Amino acid sequence: MGSVSPMRRPFPLGVLLLLGVVLLRVRADKVATELITPDFAASYLLFIDTYGAFLASRSGAFQAVVYNPAGQQDRYYLAVLHAPSKTCVWVANRAAPITDRAAPLQLTANGISIEDPNGTVVWSTPPFAASVSALRLDDSGNLALLDGRNATLWQSFDRPTDSIVSSQRLPVGRFLASAVSDSDLSEGDYRLNVTAADAVLTWLGTLYWRLSSDASSVKDRDGAVAYMAVNGTGMYLLAADGGIIIQVSLPAAGLRIVKLGSDGKLQIASFASANSSSTPMDGGFVAPSNVCELPLSCGALGLCTPKGCSCPPIFAASHDSGCAPSDGSTVLSVGSCGGTAPVSYVNLGNGVWYYANKFSPPALAGGNMSSCQVLCTSNCSCLSYFYDISSLSCYLIQHQLGSFIKVNSTNGSDKLGYIKVQSSQTPRSSNSSSSNSTLIAILIPTIVAFVLIVVVSAVIFTSWRKENKRGGRRQSRSGNLQVRRQRSPSDSAHLVSVIDDNGDDIVIPGLPTRFTHDEIEEITNSFRVKIGAGGFGAVYKGELPDGSEVAVKRIEGVGMQGKREFCTEIAVIGNIHHVNLVRLRGFCTEGQRRLLVYEYMDRGSIDRSLFRPNGPLLEWKERMDVAIGAARGLAYLHFGCDQRIIHCDVKPENILLADGRQVKIADFGLAKFLTPEQSGLFTTMRGTRGYLAPEWLSNAPISDRTDVYSFGMVLLELVRGRKNRNEHVGGAGGEASNSSNGTTGSSSRGAKNDYFPLAALEGHEAGRYAELADPRLEGRVVAKEVERVVKVALCCLHEDPHLRPSMAVVAGMLEGTMELWEPRVQSLGFLRLYGRGFSGPADGGCSDVKLTPMMMGSIGDGSGTTTTLTTMSGLPSYMSSSQLSGPR
Ligand SMILES: *[C@@H]1O[C@H](CO)[C@@H](O)[C@H](O)[C@H]1NC(C)=O
Ligand SMILES: *[C@@H]1O[C@H](CO)[C@@H](O)[C@H](O)[C@H]1NC(C)=O
Ligand SMILES: *[C@@H]1O[C@H](CO)[C@@H](O)[C@H](O)[C@H]1NC(C)=O
Repeated sequence: MGSVSPMRRPFPLGVLLLLGVVLLRVRADKVATELITPDFAASYLLFIDTYGAFLASRSGAFQAVVYNPAGQQDRYYLAVLHAPSKTCVWVANRAAPITDRAAPLQLTANGISIEDPNGTVVWSTPPFAASVSALRLDDSGNLALLDGRNATLWQSFDRPTDSIVSSQRLPVGRFLASAVSDSDLSEGDYRLNVTAADAVLTWLGTLYWRLSSDASSVKDRDGAVAYMAVNGTGMYLLAADGGIIIQVSLPAAGLRIVKLGSDGKLQIASFASANSSSTPMDGGFVAPSNVCELPLSCGALGLCTPKGCSCPPIFAASHDSGCAPSDGSTVLSVGSCGGTAPVSYVNLGNGVWYYANKFSPPALAGGNMSSCQVLCTSNCSCLSYFYDISSLSCYLIQHQLGSFIKVNSTNGSDKLGYIKVQSSQTPRSSNSSSSNSTLIAILIPTIVAFVLIVVVSAVIFTSWRKENKRGGRRQSRSGNLQVRRQRSPSDSAHLVSVIDDNGDDIVIPGLPTRFTHDEIEEITNSFRVKIGAGGFGAVYKGELPDGSEVAVKRIEGVGMQGKREFCTEIAVIGNIHHVNLVRLRGFCTEGQRRLLVYEYMDRGSIDRSLFRPNGPLLEWKERMDVAIGAARGLAYLHFGCDQRIIHCDVKPENILLADGRQVKIADFGLAKFLTPEQSGLFTTMRGTRGYLAPEWLSNAPISDRTDVYSFGMVLLELVRGRKNRNEHVGGAGGEASNSSNGTTGSSSRGAKNDYFPLAALEGHEAGRYAELADPRLEGRVVAKEVERVVKVALCCLHEDPHLRPSMAVVAGMLEGTMELWEPRVQSLGFLRLYGRGFSGPADGGCSDVKLTPMMMGSIGDGSGTTTTLTTMSGLPSYMSSSQLSGPR
């Protein structure tokens, strides 16, 4: 048996606190093995050297820990972790976290109790008849209190939280409840219930998965289920006699952990043996297997499609600030029963169905659709109804609305969905029946929708600003241990573990597939086909074993951080799914190597078409598609995910095209890798400078509007079909030649109108837009759209970031679904300065742009091209690297 920690009389807490941190550090204890005896105290601070672990099972497979999940500093829990993978398998005080890392939990003869700093007991074990003689953690992960005869008085296996492990049973009638998030382990909204017939997943009472209907399950015999269990060969529902009722067979493994994630996914993590982190290749069991069947796969009212999240057709076209009916009416929320205003229904559009209908019995069968509507109207808690014409089934959605799913078009037309709304409060809209009612019907919803979106964006914006400030104040004990992000509900949560630089295991839920370097070599055929060299290193073409083509990006040098940080970022990037964002398929981290595997975009980036003389010409229609697609992608990064991400490097090279008119933004989330915490180093590539907002060079904070500025520059290049600034100075490469066909006015070197943004401003002032379009299009443009794009672009360039529209508004304006802003000429005067400056002989004429706080230098980026490195030595503290990759 291992060493037992020294017995400690209950020490007056006040004295302990007075003695302070230094003494506590000195007193920091060794981790006991298997058993500890009363009286004993543990706090996060006392066991800070082991990150709160105070008791290990004999083999070391499990640890009892004062746990601060995800590195936050506000909530500590008594928890059992699977040590090699750092997976939390049990939590004692999920509803009452310890709020102070010095507050101890006490093991006495009465059991375990946890007090908050003012002495109130926040959690304790129940009273026992016998006195407690030991706390034992065994190799199966069971934490138990024993009496003098080693009989169990209490055990964690009887009180599962969100997980069960091999050899633990989840009896019928009991359930697992998800945590709210990775950092807040209090009870969330998802449950895994074991019933006498099945195991089911529910969200606020609504069923969304059942084991017996899962493709991987096999029913062995009838009978009443007594408990659920998982072991080395599979997951089982078993009868009281141990006979199998339903099973899911899985490849052999030493230990399995079934965990209900905070996103509602049930996952099984498998380990070769209990005390190892190596995972057998078993493909991983995930329920539901289709991400769209998760209740909040795309958030409330979002529409989940195989291609990503969007809104039902009737709703505002952008999913970015949440979906809302485009006619300006309000979707009713819980508990609202119409009030004084009458309710009406909005058709969700063809093929839009509710994720849970297939598991719910119809509220009414055999009736017609109007009786279904009547039923919903008479029911205060009904928020929406769905009607299946072929089966005459009526489904009511009550209490809470989740995401919608798309049913395929063949049987989509007989499925109808309606959502209860209250029309907008304006009394005129309801009682006017005159001829101008049509005008009002068009105007009011547009204005309301517009105001709504602006307000929502503003609220979101300010709230993340606040969040960000708060986050910034919070000090972490060690940057290395911070895993501070919360996951969005649609995250996938594969438990992939990676060995850390210190040999520790890292488990970060949501990591995409991890490849070894050998696998990467195989995928890329030993890096044979180089398809590009971006700011982070070379990009190679590759092919996955399943035949799909990928682009493998080798990240080199710049500011590379530890594996944990890398993996944390990867988990964030890997979980962002949007039709207009390039999908991360996997990654590799071995030694100093860092590689990212992206989906392959066969037509490359748009700079090829725009800037190369012999490149394929992009027709106007396609340019509009690019503008709108890229705007939507960026808007999603800014507002669509929990982790708000500022791209920081929006430019044509990062907008990719693929057949089937796909437009996707690349390289998002990578700004973080360029910015080591301490040095405040920010790099930017030659050529990228043309897209940098003025605030990069001044002291103004970087925000999502910084991307908006860069996007405005890209829009102008889309219009003109050449770089905004002719690159015939400083030997910037062969791209200069194609631009000699001139802009409005002169095409001669150094003329001020070589700076196209200035030409665009002047075109706007003169009201002449069509002539700004790419001459190569020879007039094949839609004049109104050119005007629209130029105006939107100029609004994006407003010097004052607050005057720039958000990306969501930009997307709306480009689509024509939102009222077009008028550019403010006063806020664009700096373009004249830039226009003069950039035409000078110096490298970019940056002297005009106040470069004083910066030093310019050059480094090789390993691919032979020169990278201009801009060091902001006097970098203000608000430009932390977390801000660079996006405030959250
Ligand atoms: C894992 O456990 C087995 C037996 O339980 C033991 O023999 C082995 O040494 C352990 N390995 C480690 C790395 O602790
Ligand atoms: C209880 O278990 C421990 C270790 O497992 C053993 O050393 C001790 O003798 C046991 N006590 C009794 C009363 O069986
Ligand atoms: C797992 O449990 C099932 C059902 O009780 C049993 O048939 C199977 O043999 C067990 N597998 C292992 C490896 O213990």
